[in-house]
Order: sequence, then structure tokens, then C-alpha cells
Amino acid sequence: MTTQLPAEVVSAEPLWRLGTAYFSRKTILTAAELGVFTTLSGNPATADDLAKRLELHPRGARDFLDALVALGTLTREDGLYQNTPLAEHYLNADRASYVGAFLTSADARWNLLVEALRTGDPQNRWGSGPAMFTEQYRTTAAWRNFTAGMDYLNGMIGPVLAEAFDWSSVDSVVDVGGARGNLAAAILSRNPHLTVGVQDLPGVEPVFHEHMAQLQLTGKITFYPGDFFEDPMPSAQALVMSHVLHDWGVAERRKLVAGAFQALPPGGVLLICDPMIDDDRKGPAGALLTSLNMLMVTPHGSEYTPGECRSWLTEAGFVDISASSLGAHNTLVVARRP
Ligand SMILES: C[S@@+](CC[C@H](N)C(=O)[O-])C[C@H]1O[C@@H](n2cnc3c(N)ncnc32)[C@H](O)[C@@H]1O
Repeated sequence: MTTQLPAEVVSAEPLWRLGTAYFSRKTILTAAELGVFTTLSGNPATADDLAKRLELHPRGARDFLDALVALGTLTREDGLYQNTPLAEHYLNADRASYVGAFLTSADARWNLLVEALRTGDPQNRWGSGPAMFTEQYRTTAAWRNFTAGMDYLNGMIGPVLAEAFDWSSVDSVVDVGGARGNLAAAILSRNPHLTVGVQDLPGVEPVFHEHMAQLQLTGKITFYPGDFFEDPMPSAQALVMSHVLHDWGVAERRKLVAGAFQALPPGGVLLICDPMIDDDRKGPAGALLTSLNMLMVTPHGSEYTPGECRSWLTEAGFVDISASSLGAHNTLVVARRP
């Protein structure tokens, strides 16, 4: 039997922090599921009132609501609880920006991590190729939930991407696999000289138009319905692929990069964003964990390193390849067609 190390040498605190991070996530998602944030939107309420309306037993209600205050999703003033701006925007189910359903769907999946690691198989039943998306998102409501989840992620990098590249060097950009146009809108809002488009599957078009109306950009961004493996990518001086390459295996990534090379004019640029893994593969944890998530939701997807990305780009003929951080564990790789 090995001797036990003294507690002052091996503090349990880092592990304890990870454990309570799970409690935090579960508390917030449970509140979303119970409708706490939707009920409180525009209607501040006392703990008693909320407990009655949401059918909560008094024993846990106060701790539950005060934990939500401590976690930054509610405020409590003079005994009245209300949503913080964060909860109002992302956790009120009446808003198009609601991500409760998107985040909750990951919970069930992560319970199947052992299975995914043993088999290498995704823990869903959505098939591969475009079916991975079209089978899963059959209705406009399903596309709305999914694209809201995408915007929650691309919203953290959009404003940075809109400044990180010299957009004055191009006059047009198409966001390939650009979902409901949120990232394209962020680029356009800071670079109004650009002609902007989005290519995505035809099923996305209704939520694209909905989102453009919400952003008061109707008619300002063109939607190109298509399958980026089958149809040519729209021509523009710049193409963006954000959170697209990580959905696919290496052969498909090479095909997408080659497709972009074909669509770009000489001198055109391709901008690739993903939560990339450091070249030494020791971090960041956020990118490595997203990679495990890709294991569970796609047949061949994963995160990858800037070095791997550079090799696919070089093979396709791109030059002047550079990489920079976009924050939120995301890396931007830019490459030019000679
Ligand atoms: C992970 S999401 C990323 C969305 C967006 N670029 C972002 O950064 O939030 C991948 C996108 O690729 C689109 N997509 C998947 N397969 C496609 C295909 N074969 N042709 C065109 N778009 C596709 C999906 O509909 C989805 O909007």
C-alpha cells in the first residue's frame, strides 16, 4: 500500500473547484429549464412568489435563488429577484438569443463520454455529411435553437474578428457555413464598405431572414443557399470559415480549403476561425474539451492545431499564412491565394 501524502502537499482545492463548476452549470441550466429567467423577465418577484409560481419546495428555493444571484444570473434588491442582462439575453426562452436548450442538449451527451471514448463514435444518431445537420435540424424552430447556440459562441469572437484583419484590403466577403449571419453582421457593422454574403444549407434561410430583421439588416447581407461540398462557394475577395472545419474529418477539411481556393480570385484571402489546440497539444483546456465535444457530436470532427491548418492550406496552394488569437480560445488563421 502506498503512503498517503499530507494534505498540505496535495491540496484538493483544484479538484473541488472543478466539481463545483459542474454544480454551477447544473444550477443555471436547471433554472432555465424551470423557467426562472422567462418568468422573471419584466416581472421582478420575491422568493415566496417565485417558489409558488414555479412549484418549488421552500426548503431549497432560497438557496437556489441566492445561488443564482451569486452566479451572476439574478440580482436581489429589497427582496425582489430579477434577471441580470446576461440571463435576460441568453436564458429567457422568449428571446431568439435563448441558449438554454442548446446548452442542456450537451448535458445528456457528456454523460456518454465513456462510450464515446471506447467506441470513437458520436453519441447521437444524426449520420454524416450534410445529414449531420439536416437530420438533426428539421424544423425552423430547431434551426433557431441551434443557430442561437452558434451566435452565443461566435458573438464572443465577431467583434474581435471585425478588427483583427485589415478589411479595407477587400471589398467583399462571404461567410461560408455562416449560419444565420451573426458573424457576417458583426463584420459588416464595423466595415460598412463591404459587400457581405452568407452561404449555408437551405434550411437555415428562414432563421437567417428572421435574424437580419432583428438586427435591422434586412437586404444588407445576401444569403446563398447551398451545400459547400457539392456547390461552388460564392466568389468574394474574402471567405470566412468560422467553426466549420472542426465539424469535419481531415479529408473533408482539405476539400473545403480547396473549394475556397477555387472560389477566391488571385490575391483573395481565406480566414479560418476555430478553437485551435496549441501546437504542443498541452492546451488550452477550452480547445481540448471542445475537441472532445466534437468527438461526441460528429463522426470525424475535432479541434486541430494551427500547424495542421497551415499544412492543408499550403497543400491547396495558399501562401502568406499567419495565425493570431481571437480570444475565447479561438485562433484566426489567414491565408492568401497567390
Ligand atoms: C458549427 S456551425 C458554425 C456556424 C457559424 N459559422 C459560426 O461560427 O457560428 C456550422 C455551420 O455549417 C453549416 N453547414 C453544415 N454543413 C453544410 C454544408 N454541407 N453546406 C453548407 N453549410 C453547411 C451548418 O448549417 C452550420 O450553420
